[in-house]
Amino acid sequence: MSSATVALVTGGTSGLGLAVARRLLAEGVVPVVVGRSEERGQHAREFLGGPAVFVRADVASEPDMTAALDIAERLGSLRIAVNCAGVPHAAKVVGRAGPHSLSQFVDVMTANLVGTFNVVRLAAERMMRNAPRGQERGVIVNTASLAAFDGQVGQAAYAASKGGMVSMTLPLARELAGSLIRVVTVAPGFFETPAVASVPVRARRELDRDLVHPQRWGDPAEFAGLVAHIIENPMINGETIRIDGAVRMSPGLLRKANTP
Ligand SMILES: NC(=O)c1ccc[n+]([C@@H]2O[C@H](COP(=O)([O-])OP(=O)(O)OC[C@H]3O[C@@H](n4cnc5c(N)ncnc54)[C@H](O)[C@@H]3O)[C@@H](O)[C@H]2O)c1
Repeated sequence: MSSATVALVTGGTSGLGLAVARRLLAEGVVPVVVGRSEERGQHAREFLGGPAVFVRADVASEPDMTAALDIAERLGSLRIAVNCAGVPHAAKVVGRAGPHSLSQFVDVMTANLVGTFNVVRLAAERMMRNAPRGQERGVIVNTASLAAFDGQVGQAAYAASKGGMVSMTLPLARELAGSLIRVVTVAPGFFETPAVASVPVRARRELDRDLVHPQRWGDPAEFAGLVAHIIENPMINGETIRIDGAVRMSPGLLRKANTP
């Protein structure tokens, strides 16, 4: 009898990651949900129920992610890793208070890009040891953003972190092809999640103007549906897929120059 299929889902305690964990669980996969907050993690575990597991870990930490992957491997065959962990950020390169904080730039890059790369490298090493099922040993899905392509004023750090994910998708897929592991990136548009609940009303109204069709924000279940399809479809590899209802973001609310 083959062992259970296990999926590591980072940022899986809320928003898009939680929707992915829920969808995979419904398909018989055991989700190992990674997040930084014990409280949110326990809520997610109760919400998901079944064999879902929560592991408190920071995606940018090697010891944390090594421990999380050890747990995942004990539960079955780790064949899926979905990176949804990430932090939003908005600050101008030169704002009223002076230049962009360098440490904030580094923090955004660390959570979004370094964290994703850390999970990719450590998960891929584990997946390489799997016996092939069908024609593959594993699938890795990363979550970028529209900002990787049409970043707004104030999104230099965030867009750079997401653009790095887009750029590394093909070289990762090319390298890991030899190990029968696929790598795909999803670039979501506007989705209703806890992260965007904090967007000020004025900024949200401005974003709403960019909506094309459908004229609404996405449901995290729609994002999870795409991730599930990517996992199922062996021909999708080395690509970034936008899921955005044709939105192309405008320069944004912060575009007004600060110079007197
Ligand atoms: N919601 C959107 O409209 C939207 C649009 C484009 C891209 N995204 C991206 O999708 C991903 C999920 O976003 P969301 O909207 O579901 O947000 P969310 O805040 O609900 O989920 C992100 C999760 O990642 C966790 N996280 C952050 N840094 C972490 C770290 N270092 N280690 C472990 N966990 C960490 C957070 O605690 C949170 O639980 C993010 O990468 C985000 O940038 C979201």
